[in-house]
Amino acid sequence: MRAVAVVPGNKDSLHVRGDVPEPAPGAGEAVVRVLEAGVCGTDVEIHQGLYGAAPGGSPYLVLGHENLGVVDSAPAGAAVAVGDLVVATVRRPCDEPCRPCAADQNDMCLTGRFKERGIGGLHGFMSERYSEDPRYLVRVPYSLREVAVLLEPMTIVQKGIEQALRIQERMAWDPRKAVVIGAGPVGILAAAALRLRGYEVTVAALEPEGTFKDRLLDEAGIDYVSTGRTPLADLEAKLGRVDLVFEATGSAHVVLRAMQLLGPAGVCILSSVTGGSKNLEVDVATWNREMVLGNRLVFGTVNAARRHFESGVADMAAAEERLPGWLGKLITRRLPFTDAPRALERSPEDVKTVLQFA
Ligand code: BGC
Repeated sequence: MRAVAVVPGNKDSLHVRGDVPEPAPGAGEAVVRVLEAGVCGTDVEIHQGLYGAAPGGSPYLVLGHENLGVVDSAPAGAAVAVGDLVVATVRRPCDEPCRPCAADQNDMCLTGRFKERGIGGLHGFMSERYSEDPRYLVRVPYSLREVAVLLEPMTIVQKGIEQALRIQERMAWDPRKAVVIGAGPVGILAAAALRLRGYEVTVAALEPEGTFKDRLLDEAGIDYVSTGRTPLADLEAKLGRVDLVFEATGSAHVVLRAMQLLGPAGVCILSSVTGGSKNLEVDVATWNREMVLGNRLVFGTVNAARRHFESGVADMAAAEERLPGWLGKLITRRLPFTDAPRALERSPEDVKTVLQFA
């Protein structure tokens, strides 16, 4: 069958190949026909040779972790049935397994020896079909068919917010203001999820005001600030106390500013993976003093558990009900998967590019 693949560690290696073996489902596994796969920053990093690992013994890695498909075959009595619309989770537990992996919390793996489909050690979903254990398949209603390929990035958001709210149970808290930094798919989905929870949300990003993303956010009652006009350092003066910051830019410089934006007892969610290394001069005494005297909290979050896929489905359904068609506007380009190399060329107005397989 055909698939979009890369040779991890090799720069610019993305290609379409026709010699990928058909899935060989193990006992109890389902076969899924891929409908769509989203292209994300992690895929670009893998294509650039900076990240990723092929499965043992394979010279290539089938790319893709943002996915949507239809069940083609499933064993009798499985949790999914033929015809179900499904999204697969990304991470699989480490072999030991560590305590979180043993408790179905492989998104919190302690050993780092987990595998991730389409990223590290397991083929991904940019192929015509794949097989999977149904416990890693999450059913999605057909009413979300046009947008469900956005579910995986939405789960990153769901986990970050869920963890923040759980941690903040440390105090009596009535959060009102949230700032999301970055207007890529994760940033925009984070803003939407926070708005659904009643926050006053401001997205801060590089693009000028009045452009597509600003207008899109405005439709959802979300403010937009261009950091070209209002640097992050001035945002607190403009907005007042910020209770929650969601960092989703991938820029080391911004990560530092994100923490500094946080009001007393606020929580800062770091969700972007910054590549390479970047040295910055930091006044650690001031940073530490403000963290301590303000009971501030910063934490990192990666990947997501099954429950975040389920809450993501609920949020996407709620967004569709409140603003029908809005989520779909985040998919700014759909291309046949045979044009995969073109999917990597991005314009500033692009939010999410999706490859179509069927
Ligand atoms: C994916 C996560 C994954 C992370 C690190 C992200 O792009 O959405 O599922 O855990 O990359 O590999």
